[in-house]
Amino acid sequence: MNHKEIVLSGIRATGNLHLGNYYGALSKFVRMQDDYDCLYFIADLHALTTAPDPKALHENVRNILAEYLAAGVDPEKATIFVQSDVPEVSEMYLLLNMHVGIGELMRTASFKDKARKQLGITDDADDIERRIIGADTNKRVNAGLLTYPTLMAVDILIQKAHKVPVGKDQEQHLELTRRFARRFNSFYGVDLFPEPQNFDFGGAPVKVPGLDGSGKMGKSEGNCIYLVDEEKVLRKKVMRAVTDEGPKLPDQPVSAPVENLLTLLALTSGPEVVQQYRNAYADCSIRYGDLKKQLADDILKVTSPIRERYLDIRDDSEFLARVVRRGAERARERAAATLAEVRKAMGIIKFY
Ligand code: TYM
Repeated sequence: MNHKEIVLSGIRATGNLHLGNYYGALSKFVRMQDDYDCLYFIADLHALTTAPDPKALHENVRNILAEYLAAGVDPEKATIFVQSDVPEVSEMYLLLNMHVGIGELMRTASFKDKARKQLGITDDADDIERRIIGADTNKRVNAGLLTYPTLMAVDILIQKAHKVPVGKDQEQHLELTRRFARRFNSFYGVDLFPEPQNFDFGGAPVKVPGLDGSGKMGKSEGNCIYLVDEEKVLRKKVMRAVTDEGPKLPDQPVSAPVENLLTLLALTSGPEVVQQYRNAYADCSIRYGDLKKQLADDILKVTSPIRERYLDIRDDSEFLARVVRRGAERARERAAATLAEVRKAMGIIKFY
């Protein structure tokens, strides 16, 4: 009998992984695998909501799988699988959608954000709902994007996960997942789903900033450091990161772009190093060249070994296939058991 708490998380198959994915999710996957019953997957169905290029999709799944393994996710300890290898997820997605309101989905921040991008809206329009409904069919916002949170909730609930290690940007989706779990349990008078929580080893979930002085690091923002960036490319990116003109007066508050670099430095180099640069900012002796060099050196200490292993693993098709075949078997076994309970609760009962 297995009493370990269940952990589940995934990453969309939309490109290579960046430092945001690493500190928000992947590094936690590795740290949690000894103490929990962990399932980690590659969300290829979710990727279709924004990037439906068939060739790229398969490559992206392979890349991310290789990156999981290169970063230290161990298939002997954790279940690693591809989302679409578990068809039970797609069926339960249909079923759960019957209990999800289109209003609550339309109000989700990530939906509004992506819908705006798909419609090419650059202003801060608060009439986004009206514009979505009125959009012509060439510029449509796809329904899969709207129901993204349902699919994510199903990924989690079908495995009855307790903990879901994700970055700060996913908290609203987790909140919806908890609401859908409560709603299903109470509507059918069952106790099928635990309410999953984010997990960050006691700390607050992180938001890794980009190098462009504003906002979070994200694939669509073009401000990323990738785990598999070559050393030269990576150093160049860091050296070009946005800063400010330098403090003019002692004890001046640290500007937003420099604060971003310090946040990255805190993740890669630890609090003492950050304090040293904060002191230098406060007494106006800070040199951004030194700060950036230190940051690049310390990022490379994390990423170089991952990149090396990635290059070894990526073309080992047999190994990759073995990992996800076994992962899919395990994930399906549990998903099928939950789906059977869901169908029964909803009154979908076979005659034969
Ligand atoms: P995705 O691919 O957008 O992000 C994958 C993970 O990386 C984290 N992340 C960040 N964390 C901190 N700072 C950043 N700048 C940053 N950028 C990305 C995200 O929080 C996430 O943890 N919807 C999920 C994929 C998914 C999923 C699930 C996750 C589908 N089903 C079920 C958990 C459980 C997502 O955002 O992927």
